[in-house]
Amino acid sequence: MLKIVVCVSGGGTNLQAIIDSIEAGKVTNAEIMAVISNNADAKALDRARNHGIEGICLSPKDYETRDAFNEAFTTTMVAMNPDLIVLAGFLVKIPEAMVAAFPGKIINIHPSLIPSFCGVGYYGLKVHEKALARGVKVTGATVHYVDGGMDTGPIIAQKAVYVQPGDTPEVLQRRVMEEAEWILLPQAIDDIANGRI
Ligand code: GRF
Repeated sequence: MLKIVVCVSGGGTNLQAIIDSIEAGKVTNAEIMAVISNNADAKALDRARNHGIEGICLSPKDYETRDAFNEAFTTTMVAMNPDLIVLAGFLVKIPEAMVAAFPGKIINIHPSLIPSFCGVGYYGLKVHEKALARGVKVTGATVHYVDGGMDTGPIIAQKAVYVQPGDTPEVLQRRVMEEAEWILLPQAIDDIANGRI
């Protein structure tokens, strides 16, 4: 059984997709042992607790320095010892020590077709604003391993989504979630849990 910790910052719709897929038996051999958020008000924490999953808040704001937060975050994760860490809309950079402690065991979902519209400054709605500003006709989502860089690790899976005339960033964000992210991330977890990756 693959023991997963999911890290979130906001709404947690990707977390919900993972929970629903596990409960529906579409993702097998996997269980979420805890959800960690840097934001105490994250709706994602309510989603976790509603399904009997431990929800933990660990915020940089509660530490005097970034180094102190990074150390606490890494120590907490090492103590939990998950088989897989899933970043599902997590807006905190993963400390180098954590990347080193969990080689090939941290994955992230990004709402574009990497290497387009990714890296520093490309998060949340900004990704879709920039895709629309560039006028691309196809965008999508990517699941990738996390290395020391920003959205630079090996790609696991991608799914394309068409941009439609008149799309706003919000409309495009929703379509990318519905048609790509909520499908791709649970699928990648199922593939990892069942030894297909
Ligand atoms: C998603 O678009 C994800 O790809 C990005 O942040 C967003 C999180 O949404 N990294 P949610 O919290 O899962 O609803």
